[in-house]
Amino acid sequence: RNVRIIGVPMDLGADRRGVDMGPSAIRYAGLAEEIEGLDVTCTDWGDVHVPRPEGTDPDSGAPASGDAKFLGETETVCTRLAHEVDDAVAGGDFPLVLGGDHSIAIGTASGVSREAETGFVWFDAHGDFNTPATTSSGNVHGMSLAAVLGKGSFADTDWAPAPNVSEENVALVGLRSIDEAERPNIRDSDVTAYSMTDIDARGVTEVVGEALDIATDGTDGVHVSLDLDWLDPTEAPGVGTPERGGVSYREAHAAMEIIAERAAEPGRLASMELVEVNPILDRHNRTAELAVELATSALGKVIL
Ligand code: ARG
Ligand code: MN
Ligand code: MN
Ligand code: MN
Repeated sequence: RNVRIIGVPMDLGADRRGVDMGPSAIRYAGLAEEIEGLDVTCTDWGDVHVPRPEGTDPDSGAPASGDAKFLGETETVCTRLAHEVDDAVAGGDFPLVLGGDHSIAIGTASGVSREAETGFVWFDAHGDFNTPATTSSGNVHGMSLAAVLGKGSFADTDWAPAPNVSEENVALVGLRSIDEAERPNIRDSDVTAYSMTDIDARGVTEVVGEALDIATDGTDGVHVSLDLDWLDPTEAPGVGTPERGGVSYREAHAAMEIIAERAAEPGRLASMELVEVNPILDRHNRTAELAVELATSALGKVIL
């Protein structure tokens, strides 16, 4: 299997500059070399072009965008990314997408599910389930899962809703920061959401196993969306929206190892993305290094 690395230096969906340097930081941390150390080959396709916020109008998507900043540019970037991901899948490659803020998941989702029923496991401290009607920040990275599922005004767009992702096959894991107005969006949907409380009570192995049951039920493959703020900030300080009380280093590896085990069945793990790494806020690039470690764990690296 060949892994195709696709970088997306996107920061228009988040308030903090620096997350656009995520793809560079993750490459610098040795991603391609580490992957080649596994039983797979790896090709780096470079970065999808992203417009800079300077000289760009945040209200580009208005009037349809409501309170979503840079929605027009987000559409442009996600459409390009969807094409790249679709192209990778058509070429028999495994797309590994490097963010960039989490808004890029809209593009990855649409590309990977173009021809195949796709389940999602979304590792995150946040729900990313706001709509332009419920957001208080206007940042699309807090709306990306809602967009993929065609919630609120995203339903009226042709680019945001992913073609073949059903809510019943979506599991969120590790939640600990949900906005008041966002909560009903999650509750009223058919996604399954596991908070840190579930991980406390049942352990990460059981919760991730169940999340995979949901994502694989009747689907052709699973997309793993890994927001690095899923981990505790002591392990992953280089993220824009850190939240205390995240999973530990070992729990994160355990989760990725379960994904690798279950993904051994052909076609199971369809794609993966590593998002929200911000080297400007990091300590010695440790968050990007962690992202590399977790990606290799998910791709089958074992200790013995
Ligand atoms: N819920 C907040 C918002 O909507 C924070 C979202 C953080 N999302 C992320 N992908 N880091 O603005
Ligand atoms: Mn533009
Ligand atoms: Mn998050
Ligand atoms: Mn996120």
